[in-house]
Amino acid sequence: MFQVRRRPVAEGAKGKAAGLAFQGRVGHHRFVPPRATIPHVLPYQGSKRLLAPAIAHYLRAAGRVERLYEPFCGSAAVTLHAAHHGLAQRYVLGDSLSAVVGLWRLVAESPDTVVEHYAGLHADQGPGGVGQFEVARERFNRDRDPRDFLWLCARCVKNAVRFGANGHFNQSADRRRSGTQPRRMADQIRAAGRLLRGRTEFRAGSWLDTLADAGPRDVAYLDPPYFGTSTGGDPRYHQGLDPAQLVEGLRALGRRGVRVVLSYDGRTGDRVYGDALPAELGLVRLEVDAGRSAQATLLGRSDRTVESLYVSQALHAAARGG
Ligand SMILES: C[S@@+](CC[C@H](N)C(=O)[O-])C[C@H]1O[C@@H](n2cnc3c(N)ncnc32)[C@H](O)[C@@H]1O
Repeated sequence: MFQVRRRPVAEGAKGKAAGLAFQGRVGHHRFVPPRATIPHVLPYQGSKRLLAPAIAHYLRAAGRVERLYEPFCGSAAVTLHAAHHGLAQRYVLGDSLSAVVGLWRLVAESPDTVVEHYAGLHADQGPGGVGQFEVARERFNRDRDPRDFLWLCARCVKNAVRFGANGHFNQSADRRRSGTQPRRMADQIRAAGRLLRGRTEFRAGSWLDTLADAGPRDVAYLDPPYFGTSTGGDPRYHQGLDPAQLVEGLRALGRRGVRVVLSYDGRTGDRVYGDALPAELGLVRLEVDAGRSAQATLLGRSDRTVESLYVSQALHAAARGG
């Protein structure tokens, strides 16, 4: 069960203690666990699969959504969840990593080629799977085939994509596991393809380009990389996003009347990621308790992951029935 609580948006971008204090609960929501029915194709660190039901609560409240935009889509967890529940008429998937967008396009338009490529690599990986991993990694860094990207995500350490300064995928193979079984992967790919086909547009590029035609009848779900997870020598994502650019983009979306749900900072145990966004954006800050973090579980700790959702006032009011 998720708990959603409202927090006041801090004055300025510093997230002072007073600005972070709880203001009271706006409600407890029971969400159906997503795993059983929503297809899961791309294992991706930072996936919002567990949070998707909480995010969908605000999409449902939006009523008739013409297009749901997910311009930082990664594993497309929110779009797949929304499409499964019919929460928008159309969907727009974007990411600046073109292999991600290429993968979703293939899943929707030619799922068999993705299924066959995955099964071929899986059958051929040999003891430990390392040989095929390195072949696929080298080929991906040369040709950027989205099907190799799926294989690398499924087979790399902790499913954690890493890119070097030269833009090359440089994560190693996980020698302890062999990746999702091909039959299961085939089912997931075909089910995701059915959800996306005929109702989804695919746009490789920067988030504001993906959102260029979004308007008041649309909703954008934004999950930018946390500043800090995408910078430094071995970044988790191939590209980062400066907080100032994010704020400027959110201002522009607000002026166009685009309703947004934004995952931004969060905390695990006592560790807080990111600063609060400025109050002038008119977004309501909520906290979603997503349970024990995968990292904490791996380390045998019991920290809980609490993520912030910033929600347009109109969506927040509608979700409360106002
Ligand atoms: C936190 S992950 C999104 C995870 C996603 N919500 C999921 O459920 O898997 C952030 C994504 O943003 C992409 N990205 C980074 N900078 C971007 C930019 N400026 N415009 C669009 N996408 C960007 C990364 O490639 C990465 O896939």
